[in-house]
Amino acid sequence: MQDSSRIPVEDLDEAEARAELHRLAREIKFHDQRYHGEDAPVIDDAAYDAMRGRNGAIEGRFPNLVRDDSPSKRVGAAPAGKFRKVAHARPMLSLDNAFTDGDVADFIGRVRRFLKLKEDASVALTAEPKIDGLSASLRYERGRLVVGATRGDGRVGEDITANLRTVSDIPERLHGKGWPQVLEVRGEVFMAKSDFALLNEVQEAAGKAPFANPRNAAAGSVRQLDPSITAARPLRFFAYSWGEISEMPFETQQEAMESFSGWGFAVNPQTRLCLALDDALAHYRTIEAERAEMDYDIDGVVYKVNRLDWQERLGMVLRTPRWATAYKFPAEKATTVLLDIEIQVGRTGSLTPVARLEPVNVGGVLVSNATLHNADEIARKDVRIGDIVTIQRAGDVIPQILAVDLRKRPKGTRAYVFPGKCPACGAHVERDRYKTEVGGETRVTTDIVYRCTGGLTCPAQRVGRLRHFVSRDAFDIEGLGRKQVEEFFEAGLIHSPADIFTLQARVEAGEINIVEREGWGETSVANLFDAINARRAIAMDRFLFALGVRHIGQAGARLLALNYVSLQAFLDAMVEAREEKSDARLELIGFEGMGKKVAGTLVDFFREEHNRDVVAALQAQVTVADFEQPESDSPLTGKRIVFTGSMEKMSRGEAKARAEALGARVSGSVSARTDILVAGPGAGSKLKKATELGIQVLDEEGWLALIGAD
Ligand code: IVH
Repeated sequence: MQDSSRIPVEDLDEAEARAELHRLAREIKFHDQRYHGEDAPVIDDAAYDAMRGRNGAIEGRFPNLVRDDSPSKRVGAAPAGKFRKVAHARPMLSLDNAFTDGDVADFIGRVRRFLKLKEDASVALTAEPKIDGLSASLRYERGRLVVGATRGDGRVGEDITANLRTVSDIPERLHGKGWPQVLEVRGEVFMAKSDFALLNEVQEAAGKAPFANPRNAAAGSVRQLDPSITAARPLRFFAYSWGEISEMPFETQQEAMESFSGWGFAVNPQTRLCLALDDALAHYRTIEAERAEMDYDIDGVVYKVNRLDWQERLGMVLRTPRWATAYKFPAEKATTVLLDIEIQVGRTGSLTPVARLEPVNVGGVLVSNATLHNADEIARKDVRIGDIVTIQRAGDVIPQILAVDLRKRPKGTRAYVFPGKCPACGAHVERDRYKTEVGGETRVTTDIVYRCTGGLTCPAQRVGRLRHFVSRDAFDIEGLGRKQVEEFFEAGLIHSPADIFTLQARVEAGEINIVEREGWGETSVANLFDAINARRAIAMDRFLFALGVRHIGQAGARLLALNYVSLQAFLDAMVEAREEKSDARLELIGFEGMGKKVAGTLVDFFREEHNRDVVAALQAQVTVADFEQPESDSPLTGKRIVFTGSMEKMSRGEAKARAEALGARVSGSVSARTDILVAGPGAGSKLKKATELGIQVLDEEGWLALIGAD
């Protein structure tokens, strides 16, 4: 047989393709190890990219041959001209927000309840400015910087090591002693306001467009393909957290920061330890008062529980730790003219009025659109086209219209008439009505949002669903963003999600053409196909989230993946749950955080044939991985557990979090499928039902013994 590695992809037969995929999997793995593990690559990026490209192309031609250990299922190199991907050893988290003093008090209250501390127990917090830059993770092995990465989606970021090495606040080797063998330092890369002003002067003198704000300048500088450009940009870095760490040399957040400082990092000098709520709020006021004088942009104060053993127990929800929160400064405001109102039709058919504004600078960002929320809001605020309006922008939230300046209302303003038909498809619009039982009485409430009744015949809804499908927390296909999806939809290249995965085959069969489209070329199309093929294997929670079922966000999708484990089990349950009184429906409603309404929407979604068709067509193209149980050998893996009654030693919240971390599924109601009921004093009907069904019942001691915490 001819050496298959030289045969062009189009000419490979099945046996040769299989052999090639085997060889490529082995070789790419070897080079990944050289690059990531040892920081000593033996081939250049172009050769590496070519191997990955070939692997993707063969898989595109022979989807049935995709190996379980295929490099396309792992992160690694990105297409040429982009950054290589790096998986974070521990996810990079984001923060929950607090907007009022009361929210901060609530945060401390939640921490106390979760840890079952006394109501007046002191919870020491560190407080430091929240810097408006971009986060980065720096991996040190034996004291040497080996990888520096962006946050990306929190799990996988981009390898920008060469650029970060040019930042003078980032040590190449750790100073001092006592550092762990493996240490990932996390913090914020940012540009000082003064440096930003200078940089913009230089940009303008060179005839280049100035940056809008220091954050954009920092982000643009860090993502340069040529590190010498980054080196010429005045970037700075503050360390504030960590990822993987081989030994844990500290017991508190404060000690960690002191150690980081000793190892050569800049730590924010405004960091304080606050022993009580009053101290925490006082420090917020101090920082807020100094904000304008500070040489970098900040948008709030971050509080972190100081004790690391508490941080560990508190854990996280989705991607935000329970042990930290960001108290944001009040939103920035500005006044401008409302030029027009347009309607945006969302993927679920919701009609959202959007204000087109005379562009205005709000806290460093040029704003030309703001949401008006819904028809009632327009009426309530008496917003008319031509009005002078106050808008506000808080962080990365969509700007909103706060109020109309009625005293300055110009002549000739026009009242806005909310459309009775969908502007995208012409179908009539209506408001949902919900029945609710209040004290035995049925009430009907009307939803505030108008919706297009066109369903999937409405192009705006279809394109909205596609845009959601490729979005970052869903399929996240590189090079296929919202813009490209719209382009392909309008050109008739994709109608439904599965069409994305048949693009390459259709191009190769000569049915469609992308290369000749404006803005596309050989390389970008090849890169696109690689990126698409890299998503032929997908996690179950991402898959469910991508479907865009109303009310099913990331948390809901995760809850479903956790409880059903496999896509097939989930789909089977959705069929069974069509019957309102079925066990499957009751079980679904019982999952913590689900409830009747959401369960109803979910079941209805899968009752629709066209939705089931979308899923089936996708299943022919992608492999949905079973949900990975966090700890596979615990006595709780896969068990369904219900907590009832009170507990002495552990809060319900912590018990639930522990159970989930050990691979159990926590439910709010007892059914024949329940495995364990943990019943404390005061348990009532659930205990009775469990006893009747012969389900294992544990008291708190039994529970603690089971999880090894007694
Ligand atoms: S702590 C586990 N501390 O805010 C918590 N984040 O909204 C990890 N940020 O992605 C973050 N200043 O980019 C932390 N002093 C600070 C921060 C800070 C800015 C950013 C960071 C993070 C985002 C979360």
